[in-house]
Amino acid sequence: MRFDVISRSPAIQQTDLAIVAVFEQHSPGQAARVLDKDKQLISDSLANGDITGKAGELLLLNRTGELPCKRILLVGCGDRSKFDRAAFRKATQAAFSWLRTRPYNDVISWLAYETVKGADAHRLARITAELWHFGSYNFSRLKSSGDPPAVHIKKLSLGLKNKAAAAAARKGLREGDALGQGMSFMRDLGNLPGNICTPGYLADEARKLARSSKQLSCKVLNEAEMRKLGMGALLAVATGSEQPPHLIVLEYRGAAPSKAPVVLVGKGITFDSGGISIKPPAQMDEMKYDMSGAASVFGTLKAIVELQPRINVVCIIPTCENMPSGRAIKPGDIVTSMSGQTIEILNTDAEGRLILCDALTYARRFKPAAVVDIATLTGACVIALGSQHCGLMSHSDALAKALLDAGTKADDRAWRLPLGDDYAALLKSNFADMANVGGREAGTITAGCFLAKFTADMNWAHLDIAGIAYKSGSEKGSTGRPVPLLLEFVLNYRG
Ligand code: BES
Ligand code: MN
Ligand code: ZN
Repeated sequence: MRFDVISRSPAIQQTDLAIVAVFEQHSPGQAARVLDKDKQLISDSLANGDITGKAGELLLLNRTGELPCKRILLVGCGDRSKFDRAAFRKATQAAFSWLRTRPYNDVISWLAYETVKGADAHRLARITAELWHFGSYNFSRLKSSGDPPAVHIKKLSLGLKNKAAAAAARKGLREGDALGQGMSFMRDLGNLPGNICTPGYLADEARKLARSSKQLSCKVLNEAEMRKLGMGALLAVATGSEQPPHLIVLEYRGAAPSKAPVVLVGKGITFDSGGISIKPPAQMDEMKYDMSGAASVFGTLKAIVELQPRINVVCIIPTCENMPSGRAIKPGDIVTSMSGQTIEILNTDAEGRLILCDALTYARRFKPAAVVDIATLTGACVIALGSQHCGLMSHSDALAKALLDAGTKADDRAWRLPLGDDYAALLKSNFADMANVGGREAGTITAGCFLAKFTADMNWAHLDIAGIAYKSGSEKGSTGRPVPLLLEFVLNYRG
């Protein structure tokens, strides 16, 4: 698939398919007006009521006569005065999901020819390429019958009104292309079942990714190496499983070695049964997605490798399974973390924070400009924020703002929750430095407070992505989030 920018008039541009906006009240968009000047094909369909312009409506016109485009796809874009980024996304998505199985070679989207509130050509181009990847994503490699729906399009162009914006739009397409690839990578890793996507599988993917770029290096610590470092919390979680745990470290060097890196730490529980505090059976299969934090870090790194920005990024992925067995950790067990702090494990299902705390301690050696951990950490976050926002916690207002702004810009939003000693007090243990759970109240925040005990004096933030990383039910699948937020953040962060 090739992306391109076109700034000729829609009236003279040849293509297999021109995607064109129409608005509510049977009102043609600007590209439609130019394209339809002589023939009134579009105005007739609007006048006849074949399409009204409501958001998401589609109508294919294929008797285009002498027009240079063989077909026109009219896309309802809703109220013209409310055509913003969200409406542009919705319209683009509707067009692309229709397009997915069509046998055309060359397609032009003229949707960015319209005025879109709160978005310039660069942003619209980026969204278009991102959504192209999103819409053509397909995960059917584990089905024995039926070919995946073919994607035929060879070239997708973004039609622009303003020639001067072409360079910015090209840049946007390149970024959206990289972002889309990163999101698809995350979705593949997430959707793979726990018997295939094991800690060892993630380690192999890391090595493979590192081979694809000279700027990337990879190191995988095994159990013995982690034991030497004193990672008692991480190893405690892994003991119940037959799968060996790993600590994956990927270093991207795009800037001078003296420049402090951004460190991303992703929770990589490849299956979370709950351990001895075993989960109820309903939807337990979805705990294959408990490595979505790790997958989002992989996805972000994939996009970084594509774009080769001049930044330094280190990715740390603690990965293991959480399983019950005769050797598994039990409620009441006390372990010593790499930081030296002891932890009373009151609930073996609060395992994410146990593997993250040692990974966060390990992160110190990189003297990071900022550390962000990403984890499907608490069911409470799903209840609090649903699938709209991920939860964000940080002691640093500046870092929190940078992440919130990145999420807003990338349409992948986060919402900040508080941290504080009053919440942290809920983690008190009679027998160790802290307990690994704080009771039913404020479950997302006490999880954040637990991690905060390991990040003192670091510029750190925590993203709880339990509600946004995957969908349940008939649309079950990884969403690719928060790769858009993370990529936006790392590309712009000036620590
Ligand atoms: N992986 C889960 C969190 C989760 C739950 C993610 C539902 C997505 C959907 C995590 O390891 C977990 O089990 N957390 C417990 C913590 C509790 C024991 C304090 C939870 O949320 O119930
Ligand atoms: Mn758990
Ligand atoms: Zn978990």
